[in-house]
Amino acid sequence: MVKVAPSILSANFAKLGEEIRDVEQGGADYIHIDVMDGHFVPNMTIGPLVIEAIRPITKLPLDVHLMIEHPDHYISAFAKAGADYLSVHVEACPHLHRTVHFIKECGVKAGVVLNPHTPISMIEHIIDDVDLVLLMTVNPGFGGQKFIHSVLPKIQRVAQLAKERNLSIEIEVDGGVNAETARLCIEAGANVLVAGSAIYGEIDRAAAIRAIRGKK
Ligand code: DX5
Ligand code: ZN
Repeated sequence: MVKVAPSILSANFAKLGEEIRDVEQGGADYIHIDVMDGHFVPNMTIGPLVIEAIRPITKLPLDVHLMIEHPDHYISAFAKAGADYLSVHVEACPHLHRTVHFIKECGVKAGVVLNPHTPISMIEHIIDDVDLVLLMTVNPGFGGQKFIHSVLPKIQRVAQLAKERNLSIEIEVDGGVNAETARLCIEAGANVLVAGSAIYGEIDRAAAIRAIRGKK
C-alpha cells in the first residue's frame, strides 16, 4: 500500500492548523515535518514547540525528519512533543546504532535518512534495527527542488535488502516528488512518498494526493 506524507514545509505557516486538516481530509497517511538547524542544512525551520502544538489537531502519525547536527541532544524533546517517527541523517550520526536505539527507547519509531550521494552500504548494518529508511531525492534544505533520478537504483537496493532480510520497513522518498516521479519511486520499491510543493502548491490537495498515490 502506497502512503502519502505531505510535507508542511510548503504549507502556509500562518494557518498551519487548517493546512494540516486539509491534507488529513484529503487522504494523507502521515504528516511530514522538516526540522532544520541552519548547520546540517542551510535553512532553519521548526522545533519541538511547533510539533507539540500540531499533535492534538490531527490523528495522523507525525513523521519528523531531523536535518540537524547532534540529533541525540534533541531526540527526547521531539519524542515528548509527540513525534511518531523520528528520522536522523546517517551523515550527522557517528554513533548511529546508539542513536537509533535511543529513539526506540524514547518510545518512537526510528528512521535513518541518506542524502542523495550517500551509499546504501552506510545502513547495511543498521537496517534490521529501524522502522523506516528515507532516501533523499534532493539535497535537503529546501522545498521545490528538482528530483534526482540517480537515487532510483538506491530505492531498488533498499527494497531488495528488505526483501532478502524479511524486514517490514517503510521505504520513504523525499524531494521533488510529484505524480510523475512518484510513479518511478513506487516502481523502484518505495511505499511512502513525501511531497511538499506538489501538494501544498495545489488548491485541491485531495486531488494532488490521489495523483501522487497513482490514482485518478
Ligand atoms: C527537503 C525536505 C522535504 C521538502 C520536500 O529538505 O526534507 O521534505 O519539504 O519538498 P518538495 O516536495 O517540494 O521537494
Ligand atoms: Zn523532509
